[in-house]
Amino acid sequence: MSEKDIISSHTKVLCVIGYPIEHSMSPIMHNAVIRELKLNYIYLAFKVSPNNLNLAVKGFRAFNIKGINVTLPFKQKIMNYLDDIDPIAQKIGAVNAIKNDNGNLSGRNTDAEAAKNALINAGYTTSGKNLLILGAGGAARALTYILAEDINKIIIANRTEKRAIKLAKELKKNFSIKVEGKRNSISVLKEESKKADILINTTPLGMYPSVEKSPIPAEFLHKDLIVYDIVYNPLETKLMKDATKIGCNTIGGLDMLVNQGALAFEWWTNKKPNIDLMKNKIIEFLGMK
Ligand SMILES: NC(=O)c1ccc[n+]([C@@H]2O[C@H](COP(=O)([O-])OP(=O)(O)OC[C@H]3O[C@@H](n4cnc5c(N)ncnc54)[C@H](OP(=O)(O)O)[C@@H]3O)[C@@H](O)[C@H]2O)c1
Repeated sequence: MSEKDIISSHTKVLCVIGYPIEHSMSPIMHNAVIRELKLNYIYLAFKVSPNNLNLAVKGFRAFNIKGINVTLPFKQKIMNYLDDIDPIAQKIGAVNAIKNDNGNLSGRNTDAEAAKNALINAGYTTSGKNLLILGAGGAARALTYILAEDINKIIIANRTEKRAIKLAKELKKNFSIKVEGKRNSISVLKEESKKADILINTTPLGMYPSVEKSPIPAEFLHKDLIVYDIVYNPLETKLMKDATKIGCNTIGGLDMLVNQGALAFEWWTNKKPNIDLMKNKIIEFLGMK
């Protein structure tokens, strides 16, 4: 057995922080590729109480934790504690990955790039398309900022209207696109889905355990709509099932999840992870539940 096969005083630590954290798939996919690449790393999950975020950041430096993923509810707040932040993450206003270089903490948003890659890898173009996005939280910010580069029009429909309007105003300032923020009322969903080419759900509606829920009535979907649900548990949400029945092309959240992890992993370790292995480990794990 080589030293790389055992956890030792040379082992480098990667982790994810969040509150709660028990739902996180990150340890499963990252540890699988660490083992495959025979790297002397370990990836752990830490449940950090919101009052203790400052202590957790001190811990990253004190324990020399090499790479950190950040999940709910810290993606925005963590930015106050970092030494430098990538310009895209700065614009989005959220960081989901941190690299620790001898105590210097840099932040990045790999969610945005991963979300766009998932669409492109599935064979879809976003250029000149009309997007209806449901939700205006962290993931919606990441997706709209990255897609605004080449999309024609974005409608943001959110439960809290003023949050949708605020995001629309920001996007208008940064990009030359048509964009409107609205409340997710039934009439807005009905009218806007008719005009959309791509529908993206970034709300948690339909996520385990509320698997019977969908963010939009099935009758508002049309067969030419690409339906992208970033929820990954379950792998096929009610929205995706409704869309498939109507004849829409669908994408689930698993590709985005795996891609954001793979981008962070390569940034931390300079090694390309096996994306299929990461994906299969999550499918295996979700199938076990
Ligand atoms: N596949 C991936 O890799 C990936 C990555 C990131 C996130 N996600 C998933 O995306 C979802 C959102 O994450 P986030 O980070 O954007 O969260 P977030 O910042 O908390 O935003 C949640 C959004 O959903 C809306 N919302 C929440 N509950 C709702 C409800 N009952 N009815 C209608 N709208 C509701 C919120 O509306 P208000 O503004 O009114 O509160 C807000 O716009 C989660 O399910 C998460 O698991 C997936």
